Amino acid sequence: MLPLLLVLACAGSIAPYDEAKEPERRATLETSLRTELGATYDQPVPGLDAADLALGKEVWYKNCDACHGAHGQGDGPRAVRMKPRPTNFLVGQQLSDAGELQVIREGSPGTGMPAFGRGLPDHHLVAVYRYLQWLRAHPPAPEDE
Ligand code: HEC
Repeated sequence: MLPLLLVLACAGSIAPYDEAKEPERRATLETSLRTELGATYDQPVPGLDAADLALGKEVWYKNCDACHGAHGQGDGPRAVRMKPRPTNFLVGQQLSDAGELQVIREGSPGTGMPAFGRGLPDHHLVAVYRYLQWLRAHPPAPEDE
């Protein structure tokens, strides 16, 4: 009995996933990114247009497609049981560019989105973000989905 109680007590300390609270969680994420980035939240990401797209694609296939899917539709093999699901980048963009890049650097607390800023140099992160924006601009034809 005791181990079961311990398991229940520990599970209680991590906020359980509640779909009804998703809009609130997403609003909190946006507010904290705005606070952290200040005015730069709404400004263009420095170096984005010149970032190396081929490098970005390489970084994507090493680190991102398992969750976000090859085309960025949130349907990678690791996405199946994730709550919340990895973002589908083809249904519109909620955060600013600088805000999304910050999520790539620092992760999204309480979700499966890891912080890549500890493991990858920043120009790799800007490059993969450029590739992500390229995926948004080049949705797959229905037959390759
Ligand atoms: C282990 C699974 C996983 C991996 C690997 C992963 N992501 Fe994510 N990602 C997520 C999840 C889950 C979310 C949703 C977070 C949320 O809703 O707050 C997310 C959210 C994001 C967002 C925020 C967009 C938004 O508005 O929700 C960006 C940008 C992003 N991921 C980019 C990347 C990039 C680039 C990589 C690779 C360098 C990557 N992710 C790797 C699971 C993953």
